[in-house]
Amino acid sequence: MRILVTGGSGYIGSHTVLALLEAGHDVVVLDNLANSSKESLKRVGELAGRPAEFLAVDLLDEAALDNAFSTNEVDAVIHFAGLKAVGESVEKPLYYYHNNVGGTLNLLRCMERHNVRTLVFSSSATVYGASEEVPLVEKLPLDAVNPYGRTKEQIEDILSDIGAADSRWNIALLRYFNPVGAHESGRIGEDPTGVPNNLLPFVAQVAVGRRDKVMVFGNDYPTPDGTGIRDYIHVLDLAAGHLAALDYVYSNKGVHRWNLGTGKGSSVLEVLAAFSKAAGHEVPYEFAPRRPGDAAISYADPSAALADLGWSAHKTLQQMCDDHWRWQKENPQGYSA
Ligand code: NAD
Ligand code: UFG
Repeated sequence: MRILVTGGSGYIGSHTVLALLEAGHDVVVLDNLANSSKESLKRVGELAGRPAEFLAVDLLDEAALDNAFSTNEVDAVIHFAGLKAVGESVEKPLYYYHNNVGGTLNLLRCMERHNVRTLVFSSSATVYGASEEVPLVEKLPLDAVNPYGRTKEQIEDILSDIGAADSRWNIALLRYFNPVGAHESGRIGEDPTGVPNNLLPFVAQVAVGRRDKVMVFGNDYPTPDGTGIRDYIHVLDLAAGHLAALDYVYSNKGVHRWNLGTGKGSSVLEVLAAFSKAAGHEVPYEFAPRRPGDAAISYADPSAALADLGWSAHKTLQQMCDDHWRWQKENPQGYSA
């Protein structure tokens, strides 16, 4: 197949583009480079032995987007493009709704005009909000608690309505848990701009000496060691989930929702221990107050993805940390080095 990948030069996108190329698909990446660099795709091309095509297009520019569909015949779209920083979304909600929801509406209108109705969308476990009911199952009511999460929830609603109104659409809503790790080559990985919001990139930057210590947000949660528990999933397992979902929706009409997680939770202290082992030295940390809005425990019930897609995550927390560390150590300044 020939697949259009929006946001394909970003973290999860670049790993998925590589998996698509390795599986024999042709790939056209569309990205405005707001939070990524073309260097990721250069390296993906080297790893795959053939390139993905790149179009510097902003989803908010509907004319340019339409032109991308006119000049590139594609069978399906994987839609990663979006802004994802929770704190920034609280400060700049309009920017987030405009970019994420507005950009998606433009994409859907172009897809319809060009008769492309197969879509895999990057949703997030954030749509479950602060639900304490674990494991999280797809049928739970959605209740996002911040503007970023609400953009995901709104896009899920829009896609569900479109699928209900027109049976020609095939749509996968993939709810990712906590993507971490990097390709085992150490050539591609997560390269956050500014201070990382998420645990693993922060830990990695401390381990490589770019920051002093990790602040562990809360040690009084009702968990065995008092720190928050999350379902970390290796980005390569996640990439494989996209290929499985793409295969499924290509031949199954309708709107489908799947959690992509391991089904296993790890605490912040367990992550720090695994990362310290990967790096070969202790990663310094200090306890700090809870971060507002954080759930104590979040992990997936991934059984629907296994039953429908035959997909499950295989990589361990240690492999995630080993691969994340290799990428960080070999690229201490990310792609800008
Ligand atoms: P990322 O920032 O690395 O990648 C997103 C890409 O989208 C970037 O390359 C950015 O330049 C591009 N982009 C943003 N707005 C655009 C626009 N208007 N037009 C064109 N390109 C645009 O993020 P990621 O971690 O790879 O996440 C990919 C997707 O998965 C996002 O939709 C994100 O919300 C979702 N997601 C991520 C996580 C996570 O923890 N990383 C968890 C759940 C869901
Ligand atoms: N944490 C720390 N110190 C840090 C960063 C995080 O102790 O510097 C803790 C958090 O309190 C939490 C755990 O590490 O217990 C994981 O935090 P992340 O910020 O890495 O991940 P979250 O689960 O809080 O949220 C992320 C995204 C959400 C998304 C969710 C699931 O920010 O938007 O993953 O995909 F919904």
